[in-house]
Amino acid sequence: MRLAFFDTKPYDKPSFDKYSAQHGIEIKYFETKLNADTAELAHGFDGVCVFVNDTVDAEVIDKLCELGVKVIALRCAGFNNVDIRHARGRISVVRVPAYSPYAVAEHAIALLLTSIRRIHKAYIRSRDFNFSLSGLTGFDLHGKTVGVIGTGKIGRVFIDICRGFGMNVLAYDKFPAADLDNGDTVRYAELDELLAGSDIISLHCPLNEETYHLIDGDALEKCKKGVVIINTSRGALVDAEALLAGIKSRKVGAACLDVYEEESDLFFEDNSGHILEDDTLARLISMPNVIVTSHQAFLTEDALENIAETTVKNIVGFFENGECPNEVC
Ligand code: NAI
Repeated sequence: MRLAFFDTKPYDKPSFDKYSAQHGIEIKYFETKLNADTAELAHGFDGVCVFVNDTVDAEVIDKLCELGVKVIALRCAGFNNVDIRHARGRISVVRVPAYSPYAVAEHAIALLLTSIRRIHKAYIRSRDFNFSLSGLTGFDLHGKTVGVIGTGKIGRVFIDICRGFGMNVLAYDKFPAADLDNGDTVRYAELDELLAGSDIISLHCPLNEETYHLIDGDALEKCKKGVVIINTSRGALVDAEALLAGIKSRKVGAACLDVYEEESDLFFEDNSGHILEDDTLARLISMPNVIVTSHQAFLTEDALENIAETTVKNIVGFFENGECPNEVC
């Protein structure tokens, strides 16, 4: 089996080399992302392996089918970058539904604590021997209400951690879990109640037509003054311009963003020598109460191992048994 691996980063290789060698899979690593211009590189391969910012639209899918590629193996959970309707019946798509919900939930908490305790400011100050505390006042998480949108694998780990801090949880999910609501410290609510009642809101639902710009100007209007928005899910869940307006008007107290709507040409790359064209992102990053990481929440050793192991299992299952439990279509 030959696999064309797109958007390769150095941290991908050790775990994929290990698991592919165990199953006789030959991997060719390409640094470029998969898109209509690069799909031709998949010529002669049985499958392609892609990540969150590869473009797998109808044109790319048709090209891959023409080239005889049989499977698109996503090495991530979300599949909003794949035209699933077009893929169905033409090519199989497999994914890694869970590799470490802890990695993402813990990163969300890391961003939250950094932000509200001003650790990012304190770190820079103390390196300059500036030991002043002015401007570093934070607030306790204990007793605060956190709104969690999406109570799947990551959302639930996030809720557990928040409960450890003594926070109350308002949860919203299109498909509520039967065993989560305890009628007291963890309660399902309608979205509007969650927006109005939360001091902190963290997004853990997938991006789809229903959730696109779930947090927009109207939603922010319904929030408490000073709300902290955490997005470690997908950038387009949040209308970035509305968020920026909310920060400027002081309605939003802080934003913790591991994802950004227009991240695909920027994140994961060193752009430090370039002029940033995206004024919204530049302005967000310039704010003292905004923390941006570049889609890093998944990046733990544990998660990388799980991603490689599951992806290789998916491919072996698909080619050897003709089926795979992690098939999207
Ligand atoms: P999951 O599938 O276990 O949970 C998603 C939850 O969202 C489910 O409970 C589902 O019912 C709910 N949901 C679906 N549609 C909804 C809607 N319209 N409104 C409210 N809730 C809705 O997924 P998991 O593993 O918890 O991942 C959540 C998201 O995290 C993924 O979709 C992905 O976008 C993102 N993610 C981000 C990573 C990062 O590195 N920043 C890494 C991995 C995932």
